[in-house]
Amino acid sequence: MTSSFSERLLAWYDHHGRKDLPWQQNPSAYHVWLSEVMLQQTQVATVIPYYQRFIDRFPGINVLADADIDDVLGLWSGLGYYARGRNLHKAAVQIQQLHDAQVPEDFQSLLDLPGIGRSTAGAIMALAFHQRYPILDGNVKRVLARYDAINVWPGEKHAEATMWQRAETLLPEQRIANYIQAQMDLGATLCTRSRPACQKCPLQTDCQAFASGEPTLFPVRKAK
Ligand code: ADE
Ligand code: SF4
Repeated sequence: MTSSFSERLLAWYDHHGRKDLPWQQNPSAYHVWLSEVMLQQTQVATVIPYYQRFIDRFPGINVLADADIDDVLGLWSGLGYYARGRNLHKAAVQIQQLHDAQVPEDFQSLLDLPGIGRSTAGAIMALAFHQRYPILDGNVKRVLARYDAINVWPGEKHAEATMWQRAETLLPEQRIANYIQAQMDLGATLCTRSRPACQKCPLQTDCQAFASGEPTLFPVRKAK
């Protein structure tokens, strides 16, 4: 093996990763949190204009916490999954009350906020605070399921626990924020659900799903 999973992913990111998304320009923890919540179920291209309108209207946590929920949901309108907007507002109030209006730089405190699960908390820790935490969103699950040719449906409890462990052991010591962004970008742009571009992929040399000849058979479907 020439270089590690993370080394290859980072080298790929330097050439092909996304570096000019609006929330990457001035990446305060508030910006990262808001963008990650918007991106939970919605694609980047759709999120961008909503994100910009949202930041213009609610430039900081106090403004958001003090806002009327109807104004927040008004700007969310069109993004769907309104529970995300409600939780965002609730979390802003909680951050204002418990954390002096600063997004807490602490994994457990992030998890305690409404609308933030393990993967979103990990993304905020890595992207905003440069701390070594893994993520396991849909894109990363797909990449790992393919890389290891995992033969179990990733929604299965034990499989998911194994993937979290794997995600953790693959983390680099350096450049954690770039690495996490690289994982998201690879899953979104190369290792796509139906047509993975394996010929351009930095993981191809030891990807087990590629070796199988049928990468799209992974992640395997739920057993009926
Ligand atoms: N999906 C979830 N988080 C993302 C991010 N930071 N950049 C691009 N796509 C994402
Ligand atoms: Fe995905 Fe293909 Fe890369 Fe494997 S080689 S990680 S299947 S794009």
